[in-house]
Amino acid sequence: MARKPIIAIDGPSGVGKTTASKAVAAQLGFTYIDTGAMYRAVGLLATRRGLPPEQTPELVSLLSDLDLRFERTNGAQRVIANGEDVSAAIREHAASAAASAFSRIPAVRTAMVAQQRKMGAAGAVVMEGRDIGSNVFPDAELKVFLTATPEVKAKRRYEELRARGEDVDYEKILQDQNLRDEADSNRSLNPLIQTEDARVLDTSDLDADQVVQTIVSWAREIMASAEKTS
Ligand code: DC
Repeated sequence: MARKPIIAIDGPSGVGKTTASKAVAAQLGFTYIDTGAMYRAVGLLATRRGLPPEQTPELVSLLSDLDLRFERTNGAQRVIANGEDVSAAIREHAASAAASAFSRIPAVRTAMVAQQRKMGAAGAVVMEGRDIGSNVFPDAELKVFLTATPEVKAKRRYEELRARGEDVDYEKILQDQNLRDEADSNRSLNPLIQTEDARVLDTSDLDADQVVQTIVSWAREIMASAEKTS
């Protein structure tokens, strides 16, 4: 039997990657890996230690001592960093800026990418991020690149944060998000790029279920043709 595929789901923030990736993984019975959560956890721990977003010896030692794991508790995926459940803390608005700043640092990317490759090596994974199809798994069987207009993305993030009880301003979110997307796309190391072999899906006018069904049908197509040729 052919190896179950690696599904890479990339795109900027607010396009619905997380919702779609989790649901696709659940429908296919695959493991879901949120690589953004890994950069968020590094940003959180480094900020707590008062580290500047630069490649300092303290940061390198934080990375070498870091024990980062995903655990499933009652159906929800938790992010555990050095034994602490940081799932809620990494979702706060401030953690987004720290994640973006620290994710630019070579030592951070090297450590995270190595761990992501180990986590996905056996296949049957849905891995969500910015550089999965371009860098982490350039040979992924299915690469999806999600997009949406800046306003739709900011509105989704605004509603998500409001639902969590954060007091946020839409204009500020839109502005911060544009800056972050620009930084993620223009950094020299593993920027957010759409590879030529990625299937692009504009989610602006689709609901979550339509996005999921489209990706699941692509995955099934690929698995069916791999079965035929194996
Ligand atoms: O997807 P997210 O918003 O949780 O990602 C948090 C930050 O991490 C974001 O600024 C982009 C960065 N990131 C990255 O550089 N590479 C990835 N594979 C995933 C996220």
